[in-house]
Amino acid sequence: MQQTVVLGVGGGIAAYKSAALASQLVKRGYDVQVLMTEHATRFVQPLTFQALTKRAVIVDTFAEPDPGEIAHIAVADRAALFLIAPATANLIAKLAHGIADDMVTTTALAVQAPVVIAPAMNVHMYEHPAVQENLARLRRRGVIVIDPASGPLACGYTGTGRLPEPEEIVAVVEAVLSRPSDLAGLSVLVTAGPTVEDIDPVRFLSNGSSGKMGYAIAEAARTRGARVTLVSGPVSLAPPAGVELVRVRSTQDMYDAVAARIHQADVYISAAAPADFRPRERLSTKWKKGDGVPALVLEPTVDILAEMGRRKKAHQTFVGFAAETGDAVAKAREKLARKNLDLLVVNDVSQKDAGFAVDTNRVTLLDKRGGEQALPLLPKHEVAERILDAVVRLRTDADGGPPA
Ligand SMILES: Cc1cc2nc3c(=O)[nH]c(=O)nc-3n(C[C@H](O)[C@H](O)[C@H](O)COP(=O)(O)O)c2cc1C
Repeated sequence: MQQTVVLGVGGGIAAYKSAALASQLVKRGYDVQVLMTEHATRFVQPLTFQALTKRAVIVDTFAEPDPGEIAHIAVADRAALFLIAPATANLIAKLAHGIADDMVTTTALAVQAPVVIAPAMNVHMYEHPAVQENLARLRRRGVIVIDPASGPLACGYTGTGRLPEPEEIVAVVEAVLSRPSDLAGLSVLVTAGPTVEDIDPVRFLSNGSSGKMGYAIAEAARTRGARVTLVSGPVSLAPPAGVELVRVRSTQDMYDAVAARIHQADVYISAAAPADFRPRERLSTKWKKGDGVPALVLEPTVDILAEMGRRKKAHQTFVGFAAETGDAVAKAREKLARKNLDLLVVNDVSQKDAGFAVDTNRVTLLDKRGGEQALPLLPKHEVAERILDAVVRLRTDADGGPPA
């Protein structure tokens, strides 16, 4: 069936590019319903879009051409995706604050489908903290923001703020619309980030895990239809929208949070880097320099993954991570078996562009049937998708008999 892309056009210079965008979407077979702000009509005539899409353009929320329906609700319900291009600074602010005073923003509140926005404006407007804060707020809510391109701008400045070419926007639309919902109905438990073991009230032991990999997995699993619980150590990342977030501090806290939820999970993905040791004693008052060097005696913390592996039920799929240096795959195979895992994501943390605190990762996926897949260097959100693909494959094979 033909999918409807609702295209909201804002009042910026780049509105003229939206005509080419509408045309390309029509050529790709989408039913395109254009909504324009009053200000957008100062730049491009609605007739242009009407001729390209063969559909009446809606500008006035109160026009209500069909008495049998309320236009902004009917349009929102038809949308497979709501695209706003160009998204002006003004539209971004209104969307971020839930203001609904025109056809574009009113429809945006009623839409259940994914929302994609393509900001375009003068570089100083784009860099203004108000605009950046509004964009961050929208991203947290799950809105997909297509970053503007850099180059000469219509205002005469050179910088970031150009609407990307229509082909690039169409590519994002197609990628979003072709996302699988193959985890629908499943409960996915993800752990992320480091844990922190206190020495005294101001000092602690921890590690450099940023939580980016686990957060990317949680977000990707949610997008693919799962109910997601994210148990996270202290990180400075915004939680993905639509995910239940449980904040923890120590490895014992993380163990307690996971143990309380593991029985509900169909899939457990342990992407956290819990501290393996903790001080045997936590001082209740700050150790002073004048007291001399403290004798720090450490003891092992609980091995969350191994403990969960012991409780694993047949219908559950468990995924672990191994940060290894040197001969990583051989060490990881042994860990896969020892911890009763279905899949192990191995990264060689001796490489600069993989592992902790970077946006990319180069991993090898090992599964319990002996499968081994070395992935190229990829952004972490892409690695997240590949891990989930592997989980889906393992679960499908398990349900449908042995793999081919
Ligand atoms: C010539 C001209 C070009 C403009 N270009 C942009 C632009 O590229 N991006 C933007 O955010 N605002 C731009 N503006 C300002 C918006 O038109 C203005 O903020 C307006 O209120 C936006 O209305 P809308 O968001 O309802 O479409 C421009 C204004 C003029 C007069």
